[in-house]
Amino acid sequence: MKNKFFAFFAILLFISCSKNNIAQKNDPSKDVFIENLISQMTLDEKLGQMTLFTTDWESTGPTIRGGYEDDIKSGRCGALFNSHTVDFTTRLQKIAVEQSRLKIPLLFGYDVIHGYKTMFPIPLGEASSWDLKEMENSAYIMAKEAAASGLHWTFAPMVDISRDPRWGRVMEGSGEDTYLGSKIAEARVKGIQGNNFDKADRLIACVKHFAAYGAPAGGRDYNSVDMSDRVLRETYLPPYKAAIDAGALTVMTSFNDVDGVPASGSKYLLTDILRNEWKFDGFVVTDYTSINEMVSHGVAANETDAGILALNAGVDMDMQGAIFQEKIKAGLQDGRIKIAQIDASVRRILQIKKKIGLFEDPFKFSSKEREKETIMNDAHISASRSMAKKSIVLLKNNGILPIKKTVNQILVVRPLADDKENLIGAWSGSGEARHCVSLLSGLKQNPLAKNIVFNYVKACEIEGNDKSAFESVKNRISGADLVIVAIGESKDMSGEAASKAQIRIPGVQEELLKMIRAEGKPVVTIVMNGRPLILGDVKDNSDALIEAWWLGSQAGNAIADVLYGDYNPSGKLPISFPRHEGQIPVYYNHKSTGRPFDPTSKWNTKYLDMPNTPLFSFGYGLSYTSFKYDKPMVNKTNFSADEKLIASVNIKNIGDYDGEETIQLYIRDLVASVTRPVKELKAFKKEFLKKGESKTISFELNKEDFSFYNREMKWGTEPGEFDIFIGSDSDTQNAVRVTLINKNK
Ligand code: NOJ
Repeated sequence: MKNKFFAFFAILLFISCSKNNIAQKNDPSKDVFIENLISQMTLDEKLGQMTLFTTDWESTGPTIRGGYEDDIKSGRCGALFNSHTVDFTTRLQKIAVEQSRLKIPLLFGYDVIHGYKTMFPIPLGEASSWDLKEMENSAYIMAKEAAASGLHWTFAPMVDISRDPRWGRVMEGSGEDTYLGSKIAEARVKGIQGNNFDKADRLIACVKHFAAYGAPAGGRDYNSVDMSDRVLRETYLPPYKAAIDAGALTVMTSFNDVDGVPASGSKYLLTDILRNEWKFDGFVVTDYTSINEMVSHGVAANETDAGILALNAGVDMDMQGAIFQEKIKAGLQDGRIKIAQIDASVRRILQIKKKIGLFEDPFKFSSKEREKETIMNDAHISASRSMAKKSIVLLKNNGILPIKKTVNQILVVRPLADDKENLIGAWSGSGEARHCVSLLSGLKQNPLAKNIVFNYVKACEIEGNDKSAFESVKNRISGADLVIVAIGESKDMSGEAASKAQIRIPGVQEELLKMIRAEGKPVVTIVMNGRPLILGDVKDNSDALIEAWWLGSQAGNAIADVLYGDYNPSGKLPISFPRHEGQIPVYYNHKSTGRPFDPTSKWNTKYLDMPNTPLFSFGYGLSYTSFKYDKPMVNKTNFSADEKLIASVNIKNIGDYDGEETIQLYIRDLVASVTRPVKELKAFKKEFLKKGESKTISFELNKEDFSFYNREMKWGTEPGEFDIFIGSDSDTQNAVRVTLINKNK
């Protein structure tokens, strides 16, 4: 009888468990293992999973909080950042899985922004390549190296569109354009995350900073953002969406307020848009102490209120603020938050830990051997050189580049000629300057330089007024056939908390260039920097001008490849370079206005003291060869929204070198219910053409390409005329007109 009772009970239990399992299997947000775990967790342990602290080993913000090892032991901290290397992460992971009650593994994050040890160009530099495959690959290599060093999660890609080069963080993004930015966002997420985490050679991506962090008033970092919903949705949000559609598992909030609401407390951004409209099901982490900062913003009276605001808005994890850990419980007591909300956040976080395999093997990403064989291996170094070459933009060339065989003596002038520290870039993290190839070394060690004698002179520092070495530069110019001057910014002049009101080349560097130029020798200027600078005088005082950004570990080799003509430059600017700070924001996809620019009359939109146009436009970049574009063609001049439109162009390489061109397609909607930009990038292709070769390049456009938010804020098309431009930069006027017809009429 007793046995029969147990048998009956066991069957009942099995049926109920299986039912449960089936229910949980059908509900993707529920997982038996995770539900089981959550059911065993104390409130402190739950809040611990929602807490991310920096270690004191390295810091990327204003606060450090000791005691994180105790927090790990007591289950009050589930994730750490600024912790890397197999030794370090293994030690901390052991504390979590051996000494904490539930043994939940830690998640290790780090800002792997443009390289882990093998440094790649800064993101704005990479964006100049317009080479999505190459960017995907560099993101993969960064992830692979970081994963081999025990990391799981990178705070990248940063996809903030910005039209303001005063903002130092343009360095970390993809520039001013929504379409290009979205494509790059997608490529970087694919590179970072891959398709799965089976091989532990990928990281979790974190798209940031949600939202509109790239539009702070006055270009001042952390400042308020105020924009219409139309601009927010049309210009700033698409790259975040593209990253999420590409599979980004986490999102970071931004520091700024948008339309009066700080992003970390914005239900509109974090729940209405992110979760409900975009169906994002990963977790949301704040930026560094941005919950606490809602008190300074003045939307919360104290940190408890700030935490409650954040949780109710949709934040899952608190970076560095300890608000979830220490302050938020009060909200449970007075009913302003519910335990179900906390459970939902914990669930999202644990699901991602499970997804990458941490519960199966908490040390999965840590192997001394793998760390050794992966980091800075030959394949990675050569990928860095390839990416760096493609990121270089040739801004001017009076025909002196590539360097001619007749050049026997080159004078190389610093401040940045022998530099390594700055060349590895503004967010080099654990990258080391000693592994970087300086410009001087790159120039000397290139096989094409074997008959060239190099002289090198330090002329001045990046900053300061000291011109005492100018005379010695002058004395050494006479023997040179060519002078290469490397000027620019130091790496701390761009990046986070590095906004500038004046964006000319600092110190006496421009004076140096002027002095050199006056000596009459051909001058090649290499600019190394993190943001668009005011380069009018630099351009005038140079025979050739190269935008070299901060190119990473292989900077010197890559620049040498371009200077000697071993690589024909193909980079195109992803952001406009103003003539003067007073023009900012200056960007290609502006509106026409009711009084478009007309230099022949007074009463229209212009400056009295300078042109409206930037010095170098979006999409601009020269090659050693030149490409001739014929007029664009279309498969039909009248088309309806449900038809595909094929636009194509014949181009020919009419110069003396083989080369790669980035063919850019822009549209203009001539009449709509709301004002539309004078041009919008909708497609581009990179094509290699041998000298003398012609090709027909085709693009397929569809309904989405012609859609926008209409007067009622509804996304869709309106019938009417469009110009389709195909050319080599955003100044192109090479267009064909088409009409979008309303099929039902
Ligand atoms: C603050 C920065 O805004 C963010 O981009 C970064 O990921 C965090 N600090 C962590 O270092």
